[in-house]
Order: sequence, then C-alpha cells, then structure tokens
Amino acid sequence: MSLELKSLRKHFGAVKAIDDVSLAVGDGEFFSLLGPSGCGKTTLLRTIAGILQPDGGTIALDGRDITRVPVHARNTALVFQSYALFPHLTVFENIAFGLRMRREKEAAIRSRVVEALGLVRLEGMGERLPAQISGGQQQRVALARALVVRPALLLLDEPLSNLDARLREEMRVEIRRIQRAVGITTILVTHDIQEAFALSDRIAVMNQGRAEQIGSPADIYLRPATQFVAEFAGQINHFAVRVERVDGARAQVAASDGFRFWIASIGRAPAVGSELVVILRPERVRLDAGPHANRFTATVEDVTYLGGLTIYRLALGAHRLLAQAQNLGAPGPSPGATVPVGWEPEDGVCLVRN
Ligand SMILES: Nc1ncnc2c1ncn2[C@@H]1O[C@H](COP(=O)(O)OP(=O)(O)O)[C@@H](O)[C@H]1O
Ligand SMILES: [Mg+2]
Repeated sequence: MSLELKSLRKHFGAVKAIDDVSLAVGDGEFFSLLGPSGCGKTTLLRTIAGILQPDGGTIALDGRDITRVPVHARNTALVFQSYALFPHLTVFENIAFGLRMRREKEAAIRSRVVEALGLVRLEGMGERLPAQISGGQQQRVALARALVVRPALLLLDEPLSNLDARLREEMRVEIRRIQRAVGITTILVTHDIQEAFALSDRIAVMNQGRAEQIGSPADIYLRPATQFVAEFAGQINHFAVRVERVDGARAQVAASDGFRFWIASIGRAPAVGSELVVILRPERVRLDAGPHANRFTATVEDVTYLGGLTIYRLALGAHRLLAQAQNLGAPGPSPGATVPVGWEPEDGVCLVRN
C-alpha cells in the first residue's frame, strides 16, 4: 500500500522531533529514513505505526486518512533493533503469536507459520527457543513474526544494528530478498548510509526533525541538496568560494586565499560574485598528471591503506584535500611525496552558500 505524510509534526516540550515532514512512499517501495542519532527517525516511525499521536499533519494509507486510527487497527508491523522475542516461547510460537491473538484457526496458523519460516529460511527451526539460535536467526524470527500477519506496512527500526558487520551485510541481502518476495511497502530507519544505499529505492535524509532531501541513493550521493546531506553521505572536500568569471559551460571560482579552480556551470550559469560551496568527493580527486581542467601539485601528508582503496590526505597550499585511489597493483605515493592532482569541472557539486 502507499503511504502519504503531510506536514507531520511532533514535539516533546521544546524539541521538535518531527518538524513539518511531508513525503510519499509508493506501493511496494523500500523507503529509508536516514540520519544521525536524535534527528527524529524513531519518532516518525512510531507516529506512522500509531504508537505516537502527531501534534499536526496527516497520515494516509492508500489515500485513506489513518491519523486518528488506533495502533491495533492500522495493520502495520514494527520490528525493533532488540528483536523482543518471547524467550520462553519456541520460534514457532513466537511467529504464531499475532495469529493466535487474532484467533485464527489452528490449521491456518500452522500453514502460515510454516510458510513464514520458509520465507526467512528457518525451515526446521520451529521447535527451538530464541536462546538456541544465533542473533541473525533471531532477527529473521522477528521479521517472520512481523510478516506473518500480512501487514499493510513493514516498519523496521535499526533492525540490524545489533549484528556484527558480516552478518549485517548478509541480512541486508536477506531483507531485500524477503521484501521483494512479499512486495510489501517497507520503511527502514537507519543511521547507516551503506545500509540505506544497499536496501532503498528512495531515502529521506533527516536533520533535526526535517526531511532535508528525498531521493534515490544516487541522488543523495551524487546530487546532495545541502552540505549536511553531502557530509552524511560520505567523506567530502568542500571549498567556500566566490565566482570570478563565467566562460561558456564553466566558471572560475576562488577561495578567500586566492586558490582558484573551474566548476561546471550546468543549466543556469552562476552569477559573477555569487558565493558557493563546492563539494568534491575524494574519489574524484585523481592522483595523476592527466590533462585535467583543474591541475595542481600537492604534498602527501598522510596515507590510510584500506585494502582495495587507499585514502591520501594532501596539502594543497593552505588547503587539505582528501583523495581516494583504487589499489590496482602499483604502490602509491608515501607521506612526504610531491604528487600531481587533478579533477574536472563537473566533478564538483555546487551549492549556494547560506
Ligand atoms: N518520549 C520522548 N520524550 C521526550 N523527548 C523525546 C522522546 N522521544 C524522543 N525524544 C527526543 O526527540 C528527538 C528525536 O528522537 P528520536 O526520534 O528517537 O531520534 P532518532 O531515532 O533519529 O535517534 C530527540 O531529541 C529525542 O531526545
Ligand atoms: Mg531511533
């Protein structure tokens, strides 16, 4: 089912936990609420679930206003970080719980639970207790328990943050597979950018109760609307600059210390004199002497080897520049080395400074 939030607000005293959020999630879409701790993700998810009442705005499910519909009549399923399984009930009974509450027939319960166990790949584990299965398996039980009642919306609040890194990556793939198989509209809360990128059709990046940008993972990464989004989506270089001259499809900008380079003036050319922030991702900074429109010589200050990649911290006059290079065999430069660096005008993302 589709979900639409309009001008949703929720305050806790002076804290605007949700500050005028409007967004629409399509039927079957995997949508993430991404942002740092305390930005209002859980509050928004609980308001959608009906556990919290908003102070303003509306929530509609398939066009029907459910803002005042009580939690048990909303048909949403919420999965938490702590799986909240009943420790004294078997896996089977944990999954069956919601169906028993609804007084479904025993035969229907049995077939639906078996089907749910298959969906999360826990066939044959029904008679175990939660303490007798791994953390990843417990998370699957929590998912099966949520899905078995066939909810209209699946709401996941940091469901993987208790798992170690490898299991978290495995479960990402599993969650996406299960979500596609069931076709259920899903909203994931996470502070993990990689998790949001790996799972989502679209993402809302939240900052202090507001949805700062809503878009596909590529929109968020390649076309950040604000410096906050750009920084949250990965390491960046950023330069506060002023436009000095416009030359066709490019413009020359200068930082206050006179450091100059070219940016692309795609669409409307920036006005001479306007103030911008130029964002440059480390992987766009090439450590080669190619014929780049922006070419400089830098000094390597620090090298961080990460296996497939190396991060270089460079000094470029008074500026610090992060560069990321793929390791393809040849050893890279060492600290103290002088290296050529370059990038193209279109490698920079320009934001209006405010
Ligand atoms: N029940 C509550 N009472 C008072 N303040 C709350 C309550 N729940 C959340 N908050 C505050 O609302 C803001 C958003 O919290 P939350 O939605 O939990 O953020 P997130 O899930 O993004 O970490 C925070 O400043 C938090 O301290
Ligand atoms: Mg939270």
